[in-house]
Amino acid sequence: MRSLIDILDLSTEEIDSLIDTALDIIDNPEKYAHKCAGKKLATLFFEPSTRTRLSFEAAMYELGGHVLGFSDSGSSSASKGESVSDTVKVVSCYADIIAMRHPKEGAPLVASMKSDVPIINAGDGGHNHPTQTLADLLTIKREHGHFDGLTVGFCGDLKFGRTVHSLLGALSRYNNVRFVLISPPELTVPDYLKKELLDKKNLDYIETTDLEAAMPELDILYMTRVQRERFFNEQDYIRLKDSYILTPEKLENAKPDMRILHPLPRVNEISVAVDDDPRACYFKQVLNGKFVRMALILKLLEVD
Ligand code: CP
Repeated sequence: MRSLIDILDLSTEEIDSLIDTALDIIDNPEKYAHKCAGKKLATLFFEPSTRTRLSFEAAMYELGGHVLGFSDSGSSSASKGESVSDTVKVVSCYADIIAMRHPKEGAPLVASMKSDVPIINAGDGGHNHPTQTLADLLTIKREHGHFDGLTVGFCGDLKFGRTVHSLLGALSRYNNVRFVLISPPELTVPDYLKKELLDKKNLDYIETTDLEAAMPELDILYMTRVQRERFFNEQDYIRLKDSYILTPEKLENAKPDMRILHPLPRVNEISVAVDDDPRACYFKQVLNGKFVRMALILKLLEVD
């Protein structure tokens, strides 16, 4: 039985295969409509979500399966003090697979050690978000056709942005990918990740505060929200929240085939005027997330 806790739990071959399955689902949805008949997905969301929870639910419905779960820990027995371990032990009596989001880093890993069914990490604190990475990779694949040789700019909250951490890990395994890490000095990628993912492999990256100077060289611009819920101090959040606001003017020097990604939700960091730019892909990412989660459910349930 396999769980997905960290994107690096999957080999690059497995990621490529999930992307291929997702592409086949896009082309032939009817082939997959009953693949999970009789199977149940539980969504245990101890932290708010729109996209991840609903796309998992839509994914399971489109595979012919059923969904149960909660979207608010306050309505579960966690509010009475039940542990994550006991919760998953119980839910694995009702469901064949569990997608879990939790504010504490490592909670889905603990859950996977106790669960009798596969656990999918749907975001754990400021740590990882592997299924968002699968959505990001499918989007890049559909837009650029490849990962090798891309220059990828990550911009915003690179400290607490779990989607950044997971996508960095995944892309660091492809050939000649260059990273431009754009953030205020307080919100840089944590040292342990730079060491593990970038320095150890001698990968090409720079850190900068200047989005506009970096813009012309980027093939992908991955914008992120400043993660208010991870700050200890509201004043720091207020000071940093509008560090970067992408506008049509700032895109004037961008490559014509650059693609703008954002895991969403957005707050202020991308002006709505950018939505009409053909390079804006963040709503395509949302849809891709459903298809690649369908592929992942099939893989973890070992459905042919
Ligand atoms: N991208 C993402 O995780 O969005 P939600 O928080 O709405 O699930």
